[in-house]
Amino acid sequence: MTVSVLPMSPADVPAIGEIERRNYVIPWSDSIFRDCIKAGYRGFVLKHEDTLLGYAILQIGFKESHVLNICVDKPYQERGYARLLLAHMEKMSMAQSAEMMFLEVRPSNPRARALYEANGFNEISVRKNYYDTPTGREDAVVMAKALSA
Ligand SMILES: CC(C)(COP(=O)(O)OP(=O)(O)OC[C@H]1O[C@@H](n2cnc3c(N)ncnc32)[C@H](O)[C@@H]1OP(=O)(O)O)[C@@H](O)C(=O)NCCC(=O)NCCS
Repeated sequence: MTVSVLPMSPADVPAIGEIERRNYVIPWSDSIFRDCIKAGYRGFVLKHEDTLLGYAILQIGFKESHVLNICVDKPYQERGYARLLLAHMEKMSMAQSAEMMFLEVRPSNPRARALYEANGFNEISVRKNYYDTPTGREDAVVMAKALSA
């Protein structure tokens, strides 16, 4: 299957919202995605022809970048697509002279943690009670990767 990573546009948001709601217990609203695009964050969509398979949002700042969201829809998981999106974001970050890449992950999300560890991210700290859960709060594990030119 041929897939492409393309810039996210506001027209992608309805399809993104559907995937988001299928894959997260506490999903972002469509307006959060629209606000991210408006704010100038880098959004990427992974597409096969007109079908949206996954997406990611990256914030690039001074010498560092931050992965804010990465998601691959259920039927397309475990085919290396999240790895592809991460590699794309790493390339974009380096092109903007970022030296470090950061992200947060829920301790209760072992698939995502395995993805990040397999791609060179290391745990650097924990933010207490960072995430909402259906029953209260959950910590965030902060992970980082040094980017080399
Ligand atoms: C986490 C997620 C993005 C992984 O997407 P994916 O496309 O299936 O991941 P990939 O196929 O690129 O896998 C890359 C690596 O991730 C890890 N991984 C992915 N799925 C895994 C699973 N079910 N069990 C264990 N490790 C897994 C492995 O290390 C894998 O490398 P390998 O194939 O060499 O073993 C996807 O499951 C998802 O969208 N989940 C819902 C949203 C979410 O939790 N996002 C992350 C928020 S922090």
